[in-house]
Amino acid sequence: MPMPLVEIDHLQLELAVESARIRVLDGVDLRLEPGRVQALVGESGSGKSITALTLTRLLPDSLAHRVGGTVRVDGKDVFALDHRGLQGIRGSVVSYIFQEPASALNPVLRVGDQILESLRLHRPDEATQAEVVRWLARVGIPSPEVRARQYPHELSGGMQQRVMIAMALAPRPRLLVADEPTTALDVTIQAQILDLLRELRAELGMAILLITHNLGLVADLADEVSVLYAGQVVESGPVTDVLRRPAHPYTQALLASVPRLGGVAGPLNTIPGMVPPAGQWPPGCRFHPRCAEAVDACARDVPQLRDLTALRRARCPFAGEGASA
Ligand SMILES: Nc1ncnc2c1ncn2[C@@H]1O[C@H](COP(=O)(O)OP(=O)(O)OP(=O)(O)O)[C@@H](O)[C@H]1O
Ligand code: SF4
Ligand SMILES: [Mg+2]
Repeated sequence: MPMPLVEIDHLQLELAVESARIRVLDGVDLRLEPGRVQALVGESGSGKSITALTLTRLLPDSLAHRVGGTVRVDGKDVFALDHRGLQGIRGSVVSYIFQEPASALNPVLRVGDQILESLRLHRPDEATQAEVVRWLARVGIPSPEVRARQYPHELSGGMQQRVMIAMALAPRPRLLVADEPTTALDVTIQAQILDLLRELRAELGMAILLITHNLGLVADLADEVSVLYAGQVVESGPVTDVLRRPAHPYTQALLASVPRLGGVAGPLNTIPGMVPPAGQWPPGCRFHPRCAEAVDACARDVPQLRDLTALRRARCPFAGEGASA
């Protein structure tokens, strides 16, 4: 087996918010092999983006405090790395397509110069204007020579998203973290970007951590999937198995809320209740107030993530190898 590119073991992370500390991750386990695509799914606020940012310690140390667990990227313990070590893995090993394109671009720099800078840092031999224009064309930007000279505010949201995608891909990272990579884009451009990601995966053996609410995209692009609920991984395994036969009641409910994948006829099944906010998680199983399968013990006993098969894990003592969805 190749060495995993990402190994997260029981990661627990707190954020310093005003004078308090709030636990936002409380049992994230994740493994990603080179060249594979792993999806990270779960409702809003479950901790997907924070997990992704932790891979290269992008959150400031004054805000984010690891209280347990380990994060290894390319074999390196990221919490043991100094600034130089972190710079070494940012960009050429791991690069990001962020959820908010506007905040990821520098408003006072022309977009072409931002891509050039990204190349200069990680692929100095390729840092030319021609290469910048080639990347802008590759992400489907019309008149790339003209666009390269513009500032972010002169571009639409979808265009900014594509610039950010070009910036992330130009250094040809070994791992691309794609946090809702195509939400701001129209369907044609979405398809074009997905083709580009597939192409780069084949061409470079690039691994992808795909964060999305779009389970159709997960089915289309990912090999493995991890399901996050209230700061914990509650299920993981090969995409085809998990989507066809989800084992954890939360995954089952999540899939049942998607008619095409869940095979539900008629109105959408929404998961009852709300996701508990970080720091206000219920005792026992965090999903118990919303779980259709809950028994009394679920409000008390804390379930562990356990192996169901060699490839599948779930955090529920009653989970078998999965129900048909
Ligand atoms: N800068 C911050 N300060 C305080 N709390 C934060 C901060 N960033 C995230 N959080 C909290 O951490 C938890 C996890 O947030 P995260 O952004 O990882 O969620 P997510 O799964 O990416 O959600 P979404 O699908 O909406 O993007 C949430 O409860 C969120 O409110
Ligand atoms: S432990 Fe209980 S509440 Fe939690 S998912 Fe399993 S059945 Fe539902
Ligand atoms: Mg997010």
